[in-house]
Parts: sequence; structure tokens; C-alpha cells
Amino acid sequence: RAALTTDPTATDVPVLPAPEVGDAGLRFPAAFVWGAATAAFQIEGAAREDGRTASIWDTFCRVPGAVAGADTGDVACDHYHRWREDLDLMAELNLGAYRFSTAWPRICPEPGTVNRKGLDFYSRLVDGLLEKGIAPWLTLYHWDLPQALEDRGGWANRDVAQWFAEYALTVHGALGDRVRHWTTLNEPWCSALLGYAGGQHAPGRQEPQAAVSAVHHLLLAHGTAVRALRAADPSAQLGITLNMTVADPADPDDPADRAAADRLDALQNRLFAEPVLLGRYPQVAIDAHAAVGVALPVRDGDLEVISAPLDFLGLNYYTGASVTAHPPAGVEVMPGGADVARPTSEPNVGLGQVHSVSRGLPRTAMEWEVQPDGLRRLLERVQADWTGPADIPLYVTENGAAYDDEVAPDGSVPDADRVAYLVRHLEAVHAARRNGVDVRGYFAWSLLDNFEWAYGYDKRFGIVRVDFDTLERTPKASARAYAEVARTGRLAP
Ligand code: NOJ
Repeated sequence: RAALTTDPTATDVPVLPAPEVGDAGLRFPAAFVWGAATAAFQIEGAAREDGRTASIWDTFCRVPGAVAGADTGDVACDHYHRWREDLDLMAELNLGAYRFSTAWPRICPEPGTVNRKGLDFYSRLVDGLLEKGIAPWLTLYHWDLPQALEDRGGWANRDVAQWFAEYALTVHGALGDRVRHWTTLNEPWCSALLGYAGGQHAPGRQEPQAAVSAVHHLLLAHGTAVRALRAADPSAQLGITLNMTVADPADPDDPADRAAADRLDALQNRLFAEPVLLGRYPQVAIDAHAAVGVALPVRDGDLEVISAPLDFLGLNYYTGASVTAHPPAGVEVMPGGADVARPTSEPNVGLGQVHSVSRGLPRTAMEWEVQPDGLRRLLERVQADWTGPADIPLYVTENGAAYDDEVAPDGSVPDADRVAYLVRHLEAVHAARRNGVDVRGYFAWSLLDNFEWAYGYDKRFGIVRVDFDTLERTPKASARAYAEVARTGRLAP
């Protein structure tokens, strides 16, 4: 195990040798990072303890119809109290790294305030990880904006960039001596566009201009925090995690379908990757916004801040999409699973006619198609267009699947479909590496069944089952299979 885990205190990021294919299966290099991921709001619970204040998700959960089953984050997996047990699980599963997020409303509920007790929780967690030889990968923002900041306009208010940088420095001040990998934002597309345009996510606003402002302010917050963290700690490894679609035209011979796929690519992928990694917004996105009367509130110098150099890019990948410009006759499945309990509007501001259609692939409980090769294509494309020129490595910071797991009479959870999902996506990562992509690690989503946002506790993504009545944890077959991959660095043939 020692040879296969990442040394959490190592100061260099290793250059990895080419992966091997042999009779023993697909081999990953010893330094490849094997992790699992969670997020504060989705697992912690203890919503009112030790000075934590409300986040936008606490508020949103109370909006009738916003979250399936009227579920809340009040208890969640009770990780705030059971973190020691969860650390034991991580060690049992041979994890080399754990990706988690810190809850802003536990730490800096308002600008200028610091809640020591909130920081102390994460300090204990980080110490516990390091004692077990598990590298902490910390995400500063995984969707739980303090409600007090939303009350001042939230991500639509430009001041949020400064508030976020202050919060980032506060967390770094407490944990920077022990945490090397820092991610500013998780999936800013979701925060801005599901939160402020589609309304499926907190704060549930449906205001196109606020959404486009939120895009820019999230990115400005990212860049401002990167600059501040870099100045405070030149050795910190800094990155951002983006969720990109892999959209194919339903009919590749139809120019309208090809244009639809390109529009989705511009408004979901390029809109975030290009300012961060190339220092410019794509003109086609600017034009699409103008066509619906909204604009990114860019000021002189902003793009220089936003494109502050990074040390890695995180990608979250779950599914592919086949898209058409023609409204389909059958059932439509929104890319990213927008079919939640309450009425929503189109999240991609300025997207126009883009419909996702089924191409007959198997689907998970989220109705997302299983498309492992999309992950290989995504990794190859992102390196070719963005991380290659920036000369930074990639990490898969989330990948996984929700299935309606069944508990066997003996209490075990034989989740064969999730095992297959993980193995097939790891094969795709291996194939991307074989084709020259510098992808250095993989984090399964998620360590635990947890609060799946607008879907509540109904959708189970964990490799470990959580019984939400007793809060008991049971590793599923997928956890055992993943532990073996992490232990051996190999996918058996
Ligand atoms: C991405 C998000 O980062 C995570 O919070 C969510 O649970 C998974 N996708 C699954 O939808």
C-alpha cells in the first residue's frame, strides 16, 4: 500500500511514465492518485452546530417542491459527527486521496467574520487523513454559499470575488501547512446556470442576466483567490474543477444538429475553460448572450485575473449527450439531468434549440446515458485545446453513477452495475493515458450515498451505502472492487 499511495507531503508533482497493458490487465503507474470525493453540504449534517449559519441550500430545501421528498441537509450522512468512522472506511478502501469541501457558512458566514470552531473541524479532519497517509484534496466552494451573502446579491454581486478570496485565505491560514491540493470552485456552470437561470439549484433564481453575471463573478472569484493563495503559499497546488459536456450531433450529416452541439460546447465548456486557461471568453458565447439581451459584466483587467496560472485542472464526468436542433417527438432528457420536481427554465442562457435525445445506451438511475468512451474523448480534447498549451496535468475529480441498489438478505450490496460503470470508465482513463493524456488521478463519486441536491437522498451515488434511518455505513461490492484497484494500481483483465 505504501508504494501505491501518494505521499501527502511530497512537494513535486511526478511526471508519470506511460501506462502498461499486459496479461495482468491494465496497469496504472505507482504515483497515480486513487481517491474518492464528497462535498460538505451533501454529507456533513450538523447544520446548526458550532456556529454554522444557513447556506443557500438550507434555504432552498425549504422551498416547497424544490427538493424531492422535501429532504434537507440537516443530518445528511452525519459526517460531522462520524468523520472518524469515515476515515477508517477510507483507509480500509486503500484510498490515497480524499476530495472534500469546506463549508463557507461554517467558517466565514459574513465578510470579515471567522468562526474558529468551523475551521477546527476541518483541521481535525486533515490531521486524521494525514495520520492514515491519505492526501487531503480540499475544495473551497461546492455550492453552499452563505445565505447572508446571497442576501447581498450572491454570485450576481461583483463583491463576492473579494469575499471568496478572503474566505480562501482564512481556510489556507488554518490548513495551508498540511493541505497541498486546493480547488477553488466545483462546477461553476452549475452554481451560475442551474442556480440563477434554470432555478433547479439554490438559490433557485431564474434571471438570465444574474446568471451570466454569476458566471463572470464565479470566475473572477476563482482568479482572485488563486492570486491570493499563490502569494501566500507559492508551493500550493491550485486548480479548479469543471463539468464539461461531450455532445455529439444526433445526425452528424445535419448542419443544424452540428451547430446545436457546437452551441452547447460554447456555452457550457468553452465559456469556463477559455477564460481560465486562455484568458478570453469565446466570441460565440458573447454573441449568444447578446442575442438574448444579456452580457458578461467584464471590466478591464478581469481576464488577466481569471487566467492566473494553475497547477492542475479537475474534470467531473458522468455522461455523454446526443443533441439535435429539432424538438424530438419522444421523451427528452436534459443533459445534466434537469428533470427535477419543480418547474425550471432552460439553464444555458442563449442556447436556443438544443435537445438531448436517447441513442439507446444504458442509463443510470439519473437517466444519464452510460458512455465511458466519452471520458476518453473529453480528456483528449481538453488536453489538446486547453491543458496541453497551459502545460498542466488533469485529474478526474468526479466520476460515478447512481443506481437503485438492493441490499441482499445477508446485508451486502451487490451493485454489479456500479462496478461495471467504474471499471469501464477507468479503462477509458487508461486509454486516454495511452494516447498521451497527462491524467494523474481519479476520484470516485462518491465515497458515501448522500444528499443528491434537488433529488434528495433518493439517488445513491456512494460506493459505500448509507442507511439514512440508522446512518450505518456498508461498503458495496463497488467499494471492494475499487479498493482492489487502488491497492494494486491495476484493472484485472
Ligand atoms: C457533480 C457534483 O459536483 C456533485 O455534487 C453531484 O453529487 C454529482 N455531480 C452527481 O450529480
